[in-house]
Amino acid sequence: MKTVEDVFKKIHKAAKQEKVEVYVVGGYIRDILLGKKDTKDIDCMVVGSGINFARSFDVAVDKVGSLIEFPDFDTARYIIETPNIMIEFAGARAEAYDQKSRKPKVAEATLEQDLSRRDFTVNAMAASVEVFTKKVTLVALKKKLVDLFEGSKDLKNKLLRTPLDPDSTFSDDPLRMLRAIRFAGQLDFSITPEAMESIHRNRGRIKIISGERVQEELLKMLATKKPSVSLTLLYQTKLLDEILPEVSALKGVEEVFGHQHKDNLVHSFLVVDNIAEQSEDVWLRLTGLFHDIGKTGTKKFVPMIGWTFHGHEHLGKKLFYGIAKRLKFSRERTDYIAKLIRWHLQPISLMDDGITDSAVRRLIVTMGELIGDLLILGRGDITTGNPNKKERRLKNYDNLAKKIVEVMDKDKLRNFQSPLRGDEIMSLCGLKPGPTVGKIKSAIEEAILDGIIPNEYEASREYFGKIKDQYLKLALDWEKA
Ligand code: CTP
Repeated sequence: MKTVEDVFKKIHKAAKQEKVEVYVVGGYIRDILLGKKDTKDIDCMVVGSGINFARSFDVAVDKVGSLIEFPDFDTARYIIETPNIMIEFAGARAEAYDQKSRKPKVAEATLEQDLSRRDFTVNAMAASVEVFTKKVTLVALKKKLVDLFEGSKDLKNKLLRTPLDPDSTFSDDPLRMLRAIRFAGQLDFSITPEAMESIHRNRGRIKIISGERVQEELLKMLATKKPSVSLTLLYQTKLLDEILPEVSALKGVEEVFGHQHKDNLVHSFLVVDNIAEQSEDVWLRLTGLFHDIGKTGTKKFVPMIGWTFHGHEHLGKKLFYGIAKRLKFSRERTDYIAKLIRWHLQPISLMDDGITDSAVRRLIVTMGELIGDLLILGRGDITTGNPNKKERRLKNYDNLAKKIVEVMDKDKLRNFQSPLRGDEIMSLCGLKPGPTVGKIKSAIEEAILDGIIPNEYEASREYFGKIKDQYLKLALDWEKA
C-alpha cells in the first residue's frame, strides 16, 4: 500500500467481505471540508464490531501494520508506517459517563445514534469509506456526506454547536467542554451561546476527568496561534476556576489611596501570547501562564512605595508543584517550569544592579540550558502599553543577551587548552616533564588567543614545528649555565 487511497480500498474490500458498513467520521471529514490535507488520523465507524472488523482488515493487508485493541470500548487502533497513518476502528456506539463514575459506559448503536452522541455538529459528519477509495474531491464528498445535524453549515459559519441538547452532550463526556474551547481557539470558531451557558452550568463535572486528559487539552490550547482566545473562554465559562484556580485567582484590580495594581490575569494571558510569538514550545507558553501565580498570596500595599509582591517567585513555585501534581506533569517538565518561575525576576534585578560579568556568569551557571527560555519569558513579561517604556525594556534584554554571549565566549577561551597536548610535546622533543613543556604549550595557546593561528590541531602542530627549537635552545642554555 503506497497511498491513503490504497488503504481505503483495502478497508472497503474487507467491509464488503465481512458484510458490514464502514464510515469515515469526525475530524478527518471536518479537516477535508476545511481544506486541510495533512490529517494522519482516520476515524472509521463500523456498524458492527470495531475490533472484529479491525482483525479482518489486519489479515486482509497481510498484517502490514500494528493492531492495538481496546476491548472495553470495542475499538482498535491500526498503525501503518507507509503511508504514515493511524486508523481507529470503532463499533457504532453511544458512550456516556454516568453521574459519578470516571469510566464511560458503552452501548451498541446505529449510525444515526452514534453521530448524535458526538461532541459537535462539525465532528458529527460521516461518509462511506467507498468515497475515499479514489482521490477525494470536495464535490464528491459533499454529495455522499451523511450530515444529520447541519455540520457543514456550521462549518461554513465557523460555529461549534452540539448535535443534542448541550447539557446532555457535555454530561456524556465533560472533557468536551474543554474540547469546545480548544477547537474555538484552534479553528477560530465561536461556541453557540447555549453551549457556552451549558459549559458554565456543567463546569463542576470536569472534576471526573483525569489530570492527563485535562493536561492534553490545555497543551493543545497553548499550541494555538493566540492562546489567550481559549484562555479567555476558560475564564468566561469559569472552567478555569475548576482546573486552575491558582490562575483564576489572579483576576482583579485592587485600589488603595488611588493606587491600583495591574490585573494579573490579563497580564498573564498577554505574556502567554507574547511568548507564542517568539516560541513554539508549549511548555514555555505554559510557564508564561503560571509565572505570576504567587502574586495573589504576596500582594501588599506599602505606603510611600505602592503595591508589592515580594517573594512571589518562591510562592509561585510552591503553588505550581500542586498544579503539576494535579495535571500529572512529568518530573522533567515540572522541574523545567518550576525553575523558570523561581528565577523569572532575576534578569530584571540584574539589569537594575548594572550588568557585571560575574552576575551574568552566575545567571548562566544557575540557569544552564534554560537561559535562552528565561530571556524569552522575560521579554514576554513586558506588557506595558507605554511604547517608550516597552522599547527601553526590550533593549535591556538585547544588552543582557549580548553580554551573556560575550561572557560565554570569554569563559570558553579561558577554559581552553592547546590542541597539542603536553604528552605529545614531550615525545616529539624527547623532553622529560618540566617547565619547557609548559612554556611551549603556553606559547601555542597565546598564538591562538592572539589570533595568529586557529584553535585547531594541525595549525598548532605546524606552529609548534616553527617555535620548538628556540625553546629547546633556551632550555639547553639554561642547563649549561
Ligand atoms: N469525539 C467526541 N467526544 C470526545 C472525543 C471525540 O464526540 N470527547 C468524536 C468526535 O466526533 C471527533 C472524533 O470522536 O471528531 C475523533 O476524536 P479525536 O480524534 O479526539 O478528535 P478530532 O476531531 O479528530 O480532533 P483532534 O485530533 O484535534 O482532537
